[in-house]
Amino acid sequence: MLDIKDLSVYYDKVQVLWDVSFGIEEGEVVTLLGSNGAGKSTTVKTIQGLLKSKTGSIRFEDKHIEGLPAYKVVNEGIALVPEGREIFPKMSVLENLVLGAYVPRARAKELREQNLEWVLKLFPKLEERKKQLAGTMSGGEQQMLAIARALMSKPKLLMLDEPSLGLAPVIVLQVFDIIKKLNEEGVTILLVEQNIHHALEISDRAYVLEKGRIILQGKGSELLDDEYVKNAYLGI
Ligand SMILES: Nc1ncnc2c1ncn2[C@@H]1O[C@H](COP(=O)(O)OP(=O)(O)O)[C@@H](O)[C@H]1O
Ligand SMILES: [Mg+2]
Repeated sequence: MLDIKDLSVYYDKVQVLWDVSFGIEEGEVVTLLGSNGAGKSTTVKTIQGLLKSKTGSIRFEDKHIEGLPAYKVVNEGIALVPEGREIFPKMSVLENLVLGAYVPRARAKELREQNLEWVLKLFPKLEERKKQLAGTMSGGEQQMLAIARALMSKPKLLMLDEPSLGLAPVIVLQVFDIIKKLNEEGVTILLVEQNIHHALEISDRAYVLEKGRIILQGKGSELLDDEYVKNAYLGI
């Protein structure tokens, strides 16, 4: 479904990704692991069209999407839940959701209403809080809203950048449950995480990114048992 080849991304003259290549099959949950500064956010931002790669290609389904602006990538069916959520705090929950549908593939009235019904069913809390200002909700609720907003564009591939960051353990479990459920409903998932135990448990496959390079890949269950991963990321 997604086929990434040889991405090299720079901030000004500083290179932060080197020949990053990986793929995702339709229906999979794939995790991109790596410590702080490894280049995980840079990778998903490049896929989304927020950053440009100097080299290589990004193919989604049968189309080359490298170089497309972000709104066009969303319209192809890829949505990003950004690190730090980036919801609009002074707007209501409902207004935040409606903004997520502002792309040609999802903005027709009937579709928008269908999607809204779908996400409010997935997140009943948001239904109760429709009129509340987004910034007054708890961190966990804001994370749910960020996911729900991304879903309003009806993505085929949902990318989540560290969705569990800063959340209480019980809320983290809820976030991973939702990701699992979305995948069961047919949404393909690219998950970026440092919380690797939970992430690998729900992943079909994972890639380990270190200092801008993919250094390891495998099935989720295999990597959980991998000596290198245990040492580097689980502190065992
Ligand atoms: N806007 C930026 N300008 C310059 N350097 C950046 C910028 N954003 C990230 N970097 C650098 O790029 C590298 C990768 O960052 P990032 O992709 O955010 O890593 P991760 O998400 O894995 O923590 C880091 O060395 C970081 O300091
Ligand atoms: Mg990051």
